[in-house]
Amino acid sequence: MTSRTDPSAHVDAVSLDSLPAWPLATSMTAERDYVARVEGTIPPGLHGTLYRNGPGRFDRAGLRKNHLLDGDGMIQAITIEPDAVRYRNRFVRTRKYTEESLANRFLYDTWSTRRPDADPTDPPAIENQAGVTVVHRNDTLYALDDGPGIYELDPVTLDTRGPAALDIPDAQPTLFTAHTRIDPADDSWTLVAGSGHHQHTITFDRHGRAARQVVVPLPRPAWMHDFLMTETHFVFVCHPLSIDQMRFVDWGWALWDSFDWRPDEGNLIVVADRHGQAPPQVFEAPTGFMWHGMNAFDRGAEIVVDYIGYTEPDHAFGPDPQLRAVMEGRSGNGDGPGTLRRVVLTPGRSATTEEVLYANCEFPQVPGRLSGRPYQRGFMATTRPGEGVLPSGVARVDLDSGEVDKFQFDVDQYGVEPIYAPDGDAGWLLTIVNDASIGAAHLAVFDAEHLAAGPVARVHLEHTTPFSFHGYWSPKP
Ligand SMILES: [Fe+2]
Repeated sequence: MTSRTDPSAHVDAVSLDSLPAWPLATSMTAERDYVARVEGTIPPGLHGTLYRNGPGRFDRAGLRKNHLLDGDGMIQAITIEPDAVRYRNRFVRTRKYTEESLANRFLYDTWSTRRPDADPTDPPAIENQAGVTVVHRNDTLYALDDGPGIYELDPVTLDTRGPAALDIPDAQPTLFTAHTRIDPADDSWTLVAGSGHHQHTITFDRHGRAARQVVVPLPRPAWMHDFLMTETHFVFVCHPLSIDQMRFVDWGWALWDSFDWRPDEGNLIVVADRHGQAPPQVFEAPTGFMWHGMNAFDRGAEIVVDYIGYTEPDHAFGPDPQLRAVMEGRSGNGDGPGTLRRVVLTPGRSATTEEVLYANCEFPQVPGRLSGRPYQRGFMATTRPGEGVLPSGVARVDLDSGEVDKFQFDVDQYGVEPIYAPDGDAGWLLTIVNDASIGAAHLAVFDAEHLAAGPVARVHLEHTTPFSFHGYWSPKP
């Protein structure tokens, strides 16, 4: 399956506001800092900063990126204190952002869009935008892309310090996966960097020192955005998506147009010992494109893997995918639902069992203390059938009983990934909701035990915000 339209930035001659989701695809060029109005009651135990990252700027000089995932990384920080809530946004001062701001035009290739003056016979040189995930570790904010390099920012001022000075023992792997995992047992942090047929897992201790690097061979090259981790194993869901080198290298197509989705080949799930002391095992599983893993854990000898999978990822690939069409104010295709799947792996057997636990969802979330551990309840954004990955509500699903507690946003409202903020034995679920009908967004604060009751508080922003993909809750110590 493939599709390709204009690979370079195109003139923005579209009417974005024909879709209620227009705020998600609208650049936010100003950097703001203000105290926001609160409606309702902020819980007394909710004290800290919600950081979010995502593309903040899609346009320059009348040209715009082809894809909703493609833009300059912008950190948003919503700091919740007992007497006030403060909103700030700052762009990551990447080389790309800095140079393009000075030139006031696009200068670099990005993953969906060639630079305007690109020679189509040259393969794209994809530039880091630091615009997918954000993680707060050791007085540093790390902003990650899927791709080369990581940037560091000051978590208080949001000033960019520069390329991250991570203690990586082997400098070879430089194409990072945007998602990382933290082990609640020792507060270690694992990043993954790919190199075609291998994944390098790099684990840092709580102080930021590299503890170990384990190289995991893959049974086939696959482009992956996330991975999972149990107490003992790394898990890679090797879906049948790879980069067609002819399109990318020889024909100079943008990366997004060079992906090759081959659903007939099924998934291969690779399980590797976290200390590299046993050879990886490969399991066969039904086809499912994965953006995000929910959680994985050891259950006796078995390994349980929960992830959001798409048999038909038409929101991302194929003709007129949603994530591209929304940039032109159109709905596009997005009928293939994201489904929460549970795959059970038994060592010594290549076959697996798979069960669909919930449908029409994305952006899974579990409390950090349960990452890689047995758990019963997962949080996620819900999506409307036919609307691909655009969040239209939040849900908590009991994975044993199937019980669902959910809240649906209004028809003109779209959310983002919900983030779980623990508060003692309980917790709060935080998500930003754009309301196209009033042209403004708010932070919605839910009691994680009572989602259907609606937000206990809304923090009203003075503007809309672009589709920030991922966030990190950093409690006030
Ligand atoms: Fe992601």
